[in-house]
Amino acid sequence: MTGLFLTLEGGDGSGKSTQSALLTEWLVARGETVVHAREPGGTELGLELREIILHRRGYMAPRAEALLYAADRAHNIATVVRPALARGEVVIQDRYLDSSVAYQGAGRVLSMAEVRELSLWATEGLLPHLTVLLDLDPALGRERLDASRTRYDRLEAEAAVFHERVRAAYLELAAAEPERFLVLDAALPVDELQQRIRDRVSALIATLTA
Ligand code: TMP
Repeated sequence: MTGLFLTLEGGDGSGKSTQSALLTEWLVARGETVVHAREPGGTELGLELREIILHRRGYMAPRAEALLYAADRAHNIATVVRPALARGEVVIQDRYLDSSVAYQGAGRVLSMAEVRELSLWATEGLLPHLTVLLDLDPALGRERLDASRTRYDRLEAEAAVFHERVRAAYLELAAAEPERFLVLDAALPVDELQQRIRDRVSALIATLTA
């Protein structure tokens, strides 16, 4: 196989890391080599950018924020993801360009189309084979975060209306590219969600190796 690029998207508290860990476990048991990646902060440079983006105090212009995410993405794709795909490995990544389109494009009310173009420029046009969208009412996501956190990052701290825009944008993106997206109700039990993801990934691997 010539590499498989899978991404997980969804609001804060939607269960992306739980699902990507379970998916990794299953793929490794099937004999795949899996690289678990994330944005922002999947590289050494990315960790520095993540600290600035999420925890720097004071105002940050929305376009500066979008460019910092794009810089993190450019470096992650060039140094982690593309090399792994070239080795024929599976990359499972928490968050990718759809996060920027939803959070910066819709959340910060920059243009969704322009933010997508920026990410495509940063990554030389790399799109995932499959994107799992864990769709969740932001109020529920917030409850889950409240249960596990006392401190919020710059994005998590945004108002409910911001997170509503993010959710709507994700659903719009999924509707526009139904062949790339698998949309799941993140309120379903963990095991059921994982089974649906595995079914879709199995079908995808069968198509790619046919
Ligand atoms: P994380 O906690 O899921 O790692 O993500 C950190 C925050 O960054 C999360 O609130 C979503 C936000 N984010 C964006 O706003 N744009 C992006 O492009 C990415 C990758 C994340």
